[in-house]
Amino acid sequence: MQNNAKYIFITGCAGFIGFHLTKRLLDEGFSVLGMDDMNDYYDTSLKYDRLKIVMKHPHFRFVKGSIENIELLEKLFSQYDVDTVVNLAAQPGVRYSLKNPHKYIQANVVGFANILECCKKHKIRHLIYASSSSVYGNNKNAPFSVADRTDSPVSLYAATKKANELMAYTYSHLYRLPTTGLRFFTVYGPWGRPDMALFKFANAIVKQQPIEIYNYGNMKRDFTYVDDVTESILRLIDKGPSTESPYKIYNIGNNQPVQLNYFIEVLEEHLGKKAIKKLLPMQPGDVPETFADIDELVKDINYKPKVSIEEGIKRFVEWFKDYYKIN
Ligand code: NAD
Ligand code: UGA
Repeated sequence: MQNNAKYIFITGCAGFIGFHLTKRLLDEGFSVLGMDDMNDYYDTSLKYDRLKIVMKHPHFRFVKGSIENIELLEKLFSQYDVDTVVNLAAQPGVRYSLKNPHKYIQANVVGFANILECCKKHKIRHLIYASSSSVYGNNKNAPFSVADRTDSPVSLYAATKKANELMAYTYSHLYRLPTTGLRFFTVYGPWGRPDMALFKFANAIVKQQPIEIYNYGNMKRDFTYVDDVTESILRLIDKGPSTESPYKIYNIGNNQPVQLNYFIEVLEEHLGKKAIKKLLPMQPGDVPETFADIDELVKDINYKPKVSIEEGIKRFVEWFKDYYKIN
């Protein structure tokens, strides 16, 4: 049964970022309504294990279902007093979008259109949604500024995230719906995604299987620790929508790109094992470098990501060894 509090509605709450955000908000005293379709893009036991942790909290309500289901969304928006929506549900992954394009259109475009319609109809105070650093494509102006052009996405995933920003703009413009899009830069940390580099590499190194290194390791990523992401979202929820403009976009990145080869070295050190390296060329849909300009974020929420790559990988490895019972 619901209580009388206003809810923060988090879609994708059993996902990597969604779980951390749900937990953080519950710890801060918010009531959270979470939704997730629990799809098997990666090992669902990880999603259920994350859920188990937040389910213990008395102010958490969970609904298993898809944002592609407009009737279900309508029911939830009518039933619960929702204050802010944080839409994290999506089909993620840059390279997988070449293999399964339809999933991206359904979850990221159709699902997001449903979210916008419900937010409009129910006059939601603030819609915060996940965009991605991938909208910058092969941008050469490092660090990437929100003022830079983002009309040349190099993967369908990136195109759906750019589409989300455009759709949000229209709803902000037409209906004054306050929207804030967050361009996350390669988020990592405990309870991370098994399809992403850190998890894939750790898994392979522990099993002494080869890791595949794209573009021969000549890649840079502005890897961002998950707690820095949740802290930023918490501050954006507290601050409420921008008073200057109902449409806002922020980069959420560490502002410190790291070489992929160095990232692997730090991981090897913490695992106490060397990787067997298989060097591969650049993959279609991938980009060589990301680097976030976060001046505007820092100005508006008075917070700059703090966790270094060395500390972040250390914390990931501690969790990874504990979760998989590795000595
Ligand atoms: P994730 O896959 O761990 O989390 C997404 C969750 O959404 C999953 O639990 C999944 O089951 C759920 N979901 C997917 N489609 C759904 C649907 N149609 N209806 C309901 N639930 C659905 O991914 P994540 O890394 O936590 O990413 C969260 C968001 O941030 C995504 O929108 C992603 O595109 C974006 N993002 C992530 C990163 C990153 O580095 N992790 C970077 C940029 C953007
Ligand atoms: C990540 C997420 O997977 C996307 O969902 C997200 O939108 C994107 O960040 C973003 O910032 O917007 P990516 O940067 O490719 O995408 O993240 P990883 O899969 O963790 O890859 C990190 C680096 O390792 C990349 O340079 C990638 O090319 C490389 N990599 C990845 C490998 O060399 N081998 C692999 O097996 C996997």
